[in-house]
Amino acid sequence: MIVLGIESSCDDTAAAVVANGREIRSNVATSQAELHARYGGIVPELASRSHVQQIVPVVRAALADADLTLPEVDAIAVTSGPGLAGSLIVGLNMAKGLAAASGKPLIGVNHLQGHAYAAWLHQPQTDSQPAPPPPEELCGFPLLCLVVSGGHTDLALLRAHGEFERIGRTRDDAAGEAFDKAARLMGLGYPGGPAIQEAAAHGATSDPLPRAWMRGTWDFSFSGLKTAVLHRARAEGIHPPPDGGPDPGAVAALARSFQDAVADVLATKTARAAVEFGARGIVIGGGVAANSALREALNDRSGVPVISPPPALCTDNGAMIAAAAYHYLKRGERSGWDLDVKPGLTIEEAPSASAALVTRITAPGSDISA
Ligand code: KG4
Ligand code: ZN
Repeated sequence: MIVLGIESSCDDTAAAVVANGREIRSNVATSQAELHARYGGIVPELASRSHVQQIVPVVRAALADADLTLPEVDAIAVTSGPGLAGSLIVGLNMAKGLAAASGKPLIGVNHLQGHAYAAWLHQPQTDSQPAPPPPEELCGFPLLCLVVSGGHTDLALLRAHGEFERIGRTRDDAAGEAFDKAARLMGLGYPGGPAIQEAAAHGATSDPLPRAWMRGTWDFSFSGLKTAVLHRARAEGIHPPPDGGPDPGAVAALARSFQDAVADVLATKTARAAVEFGARGIVIGGGVAANSALREALNDRSGVPVISPPPALCTDNGAMIAAAAYHYLKRGERSGWDLDVKPGLTIEEAPSASAALVTRITAPGSDISA
């Protein structure tokens, strides 16, 4: 089954073609990072306007790169939430238009579930190099999913395809948001995650920053860490920046302490939750999952296999949306024309919050993947 996946929930306009929920036939994205960099964060109106300009060329390029035309695609998938309403609506309406014009099924996808399904993706393989086994074959269910993005930090159990149960979440800032805010305090620019990772690579070890363990829960909290960064940045003459800029060595050391603190808490709690809930493997996704310190810490602490998509598939992309959609479609689900954007959707929720929006298109047990 060939799915065209469209993603426009935040500041990346993306589209991809994926075969059978796994094989990437094309994956196209335009980043708006430069547009928002001067504001130190995403400006929703600018994001929405840029999606309008980019969506048609990006979808065209995804089809062209896959060497396919619209009639050759089996379904059109699109992120319907969570995200910025004005951004989501651009991708959603594009998808509706394509589905209406082609007569192909339309399927709304939960962006957070999409981040988890990035772990299923692989590039087309040659005969001598077979496709890697999917996570449920490699490890078995249940799988523990750590989704760490700019807007969310969720720990969820995936008991079977599509059955997500959230066991922990952030009580305040998302991990990516913490990276972005800490980077701003250190004068490192936007997006903060890659900038902090780069600076931290040259950082000497310094006094550790505090960790919020949120004991007795699987929840996270990063706002205290952000305040600790502010105090340290003030004490060390990093913020506000002095004439001539802060000492790069001090910035690098603070970046390293911050990154170590985030990676330590995320990796330690995720590894412990895997034991507690009997998870057979861990999958990670979302922009912060691209972070090398987090990946290393999780691999060190976990007693079960950790499946980490390549960094480019951790950040927002259309392929993860097509990958998640494959499993919705296999269950016989499709969205109605009344599919709407759901900016506040949680990882557990169906993309169309009302069950009435999802209709069966095949008899139970039948397979439309052929
Ligand atoms: O998943 P994503 O692309 O978009 C959302 O759904 O939010 O995540 C974006 C977030 C940003 O906060 C960015 O700073 C962070 O992911 N990020 C990173 C890295 N690359 C992106 N954080 C830490 N280390 C990275 N290498
Ligand atoms: Zn995302």
